[in-house]
Amino acid sequence: MASRLGASYRPTSPSGPLRLIAVVACAGLAATLAWAADSNTTVPSKRPPDQELAQTLWNQSCAPCHGAKGLGDGALAAPLGGVASLSGRITDQTMNDLVDRVRKGDGKMPAYSETIDVGDTRRILEWIRDVSSGKIQPKAGAAAKPTKPAPHPKPVIEPAAEPLGG
Ligand code: HEC
Repeated sequence: MASRLGASYRPTSPSGPLRLIAVVACAGLAATLAWAADSNTTVPSKRPPDQELAQTLWNQSCAPCHGAKGLGDGALAAPLGGVASLSGRITDQTMNDLVDRVRKGDGKMPAYSETIDVGDTRRILEWIRDVSSGKIQPKAGAAAKPTKPAPHPKPVIEPAAEPLGG
């Protein structure tokens, strides 16, 4: 009896390839659902990506002395009596101290605590660390972008469209 039940059960179970297709289809559906849920719930970022923001702030506030790549060749470096290259200076060990130094000022370098917050100062240093060591390149054309990102962009309210052929 038991063997007959087993025998009658087996043929209704999906064969190997069918089962594989079912598993793959389920995984695909799950991935699609996860993606859909994610894209529906993610609030679009109003803030530019960190690297872009860092480059903008760098070009605006730091490059005149430190140079576009932090190598100490900014236009104001010579009149200041020289600015050292940042290449290799920014490490996990020195990061906190350097963030602090930028915020408080350092000799001929002005203090930035009033104009750049701690998080952005760190973002700038992480970015220039990678640029000055040649790990990444500054993005072309970024300097031409508007400088300070608006902290709270206002929603654009389109005027009602003129009726056509009114
Ligand atoms: C007016 C010129 C000037 C500007 C603008 C300026 N710096 Fe400096 N910075 C200096 C000078 C001078 C020093 C002192 C050490 C040196 O000669 O490099 C210095 C030191 C530093 C140091 C410490 C370097 C080390 O190895 O000890 C960091 C990091 C730094 N600046 C980052 C920045 C950042 C980030 C900005 C922009 C937010 C900035 N600086 C803007 C001139 C400037």
